[in-house]
Amino acid sequence: MTDARFPDGFVWGSATAAYQIEGSPLADGAGSSIWHRFSHTPGRMTNGDTGDVACDHYHRYPEDIAIMQSLGLQAYRFSISWSRILPDGTGRVNQKGLDFYRRLVDALREAGILPMATLYHWDLPAALDDRGGWLNRDIANWFSEYANVAFRALDDKVEWWATLNEPWVVTDGGYLHGALAPGHRNLFEAPLATHNLLRAHGSAVEAYRAIGKHAIGIVVNIEPKYPDSQSEDDLAATRRADAYMNRQYLDPVFRGEYPEEMKDIFGEAWPGFPAADFDLIKQPLDFAGINYYLRAVTKNDPAQVVERAARVRQPQSIYTETGWEVHAPALTDVLLWFREHYGPTPVYITENGAAFYDPPTAINDTINDPLRIHYLREHIRAVANAIAKGADVRGYFVWSLLDNLEWSLGYTKRFGIVHVDFATLKRTLKESAKFYAEVVRSGGAVL
Ligand code: BGC
Repeated sequence: MTDARFPDGFVWGSATAAYQIEGSPLADGAGSSIWHRFSHTPGRMTNGDTGDVACDHYHRYPEDIAIMQSLGLQAYRFSISWSRILPDGTGRVNQKGLDFYRRLVDALREAGILPMATLYHWDLPAALDDRGGWLNRDIANWFSEYANVAFRALDDKVEWWATLNEPWVVTDGGYLHGALAPGHRNLFEAPLATHNLLRAHGSAVEAYRAIGKHAIGIVVNIEPKYPDSQSEDDLAATRRADAYMNRQYLDPVFRGEYPEEMKDIFGEAWPGFPAADFDLIKQPLDFAGINYYLRAVTKNDPAQVVERAARVRQPQSIYTETGWEVHAPALTDVLLWFREHYGPTPVYITENGAAFYDPPTAINDTINDPLRIHYLREHIRAVANAIAKGADVRGYFVWSLLDNLEWSLGYTKRFGIVHVDFATLKRTLKESAKFYAEVVRSGGAVL
């Protein structure tokens, strides 16, 4: 037992994202997104899986909200599909798309669950990709146009807005290595996409300050880097990996500049950016969302493009089905590091969770997932430890409420605390959901 303590008002929730759970991506006048296109391109997805049906949350959201309510969850982080609301990305508003999110936030509030809406969880309207997507500087305006529509329609019920989810993954997966939509592999594009994501974030924050009544922030993934040895090479590689993944977005947002390592990391592909852009990028935020899954013990590896660093496998550790090391103490480090480097902005853990093999058939309607329970317990304790040491953490969202489409890995990796049978769409609580409900009910005391 640890002395797990959480402040009054600490919020317990779960998280999902539109393309991963909704299904019916083209319903009711929605436009196509880059993920719809990508998943329908042969060879891109494990087993040829797509988000066409996913968890059918688009139709079953009342059932999903009832599940959250039965677990006592206090908040729900979801994302809005841009092309449901603006089928062409800009211009014409699709009222039926807006109505879906309206029904969702109304139902959440009725159930006593606070909505956190992410504006961009990777599903760019395909029509905007045709105009250059994140490589086109105009996207800052396109994004604020979309954000304005969403703010005006939903801000009365949305408690927190997140502009972008994990922009680093967008550029690393989408523009550099190509494993995620739009599937580009181009060293020179990644820095441009980075900068435009940040400008878009800034434009949306600016728009929100004019009309918003609640809170706005950004969500980043942080994977703290620890050197494998004290050799100069490993220490330098660790600094590069840290700058690339952990500081590439936070430094501009909170300090108004890129880490100096970016030039070394990208070489001639890293251009100069107009100084005035940083005024837009660096604006006070109401919170920062941190997604934490794993740490990386890091060694020098010249074969890796860009950061020239690789993770070293830790034989004593448990690994998840996505090959990620389970190491909860690093979450405490992340939260203390954030406060030290970026100051007093309040933090939410906006994602934390693990994919493990869950038995495909429920026996007596129970699904035992002890590894996930262990993962959650250790990580929630790690959050409490950070709070005890002075971190200002205001809430925790488990990833994910439901098993869902794990992007290009399709339905092969299950992160849910609720099992979804993808043949019947039946939802079944895993033991981890019941465990988490106890954590919530007791305010963390059962840890
Ligand atoms: C993303 C989620 C994803 C999860 C597990 C995060 O990178 O925000 O969409 O499913 O991690 O990989």
